[in-house]
Amino acid sequence: TISAPAFIAVDGPAACGKGTLAKSLALKFNLKHLDTGLLYRAIGYKALQLSIPFDNKEWLVQLSSRLSSLDLSEPGLRSDDVATAASKISIIPGVREALNAYSRQFSSTMHPNSQGTILDGRDVGTVLCPDAHVKLFLTASAEVRARRRLQELVLKGMLKEGDVDARDAMYERVLEDLKERDQRDTSRSTAPLRAAEDAHTLDTTHMSAVEVVTEAERIVMKACPWL
Ligand code: DC
Repeated sequence: TISAPAFIAVDGPAACGKGTLAKSLALKFNLKHLDTGLLYRAIGYKALQLSIPFDNKEWLVQLSSRLSSLDLSEPGLRSDDVATAASKISIIPGVREALNAYSRQFSSTMHPNSQGTILDGRDVGTVLCPDAHVKLFLTASAEVRARRRLQELVLKGMLKEGDVDARDAMYERVLEDLKERDQRDTSRSTAPLRAAEDAHTLDTTHMSAVEVVTEAERIVMKACPWL
């Protein structure tokens, strides 16, 4: 039997569900998983904390090369302000190079119990792992992604289901934020968000989370029958 380490890339726009899918595939196929967005968020978080302007490239590149000194489990990394900061910082080529080095190191480190690596982000299939065995590209309409994000806030107890006014206002804000971030992430000159030529694109607008996972598992098993 062949048992090469499998490489799986999952890309897509903000709040498309790529993180949830990657986690689920990692569990099912025993893969080590890295959310590459978290790396950009860690730099954004620190810059916000220390009031470092997003155009201070030198400082941001320096920090990016010392990423291992940052805490990737800091809960504050998940906030929308940090997401916006991450998106703004991610246009700097030197930052991308340093964070890519970290991701490549993560991918190449052998893990006794894992059968491979799964990375999720914006440019995994195009830049970071162009030779991945499987490339998944998730999309969904901005409206559906905003609604899913809102549902998450309700589940976390950060938004009351019955408070319709607050809900509507929040929906508009989340939708605007998503659209702005999509625009920035797809139009930057270095490693913009796009599907690789050989990616399987899943438009999840009308799919449930279970349907997405089932379809993705089918694609992975076909491409990597040894898993
Ligand atoms: O996936 P996320 O929402 O956590 O990503 C936050 C930002 O980081 C995203 O808007 C752009 C940037 N990013 C990137 O440029 N390249 C990646 N591979 C992952 C994230």
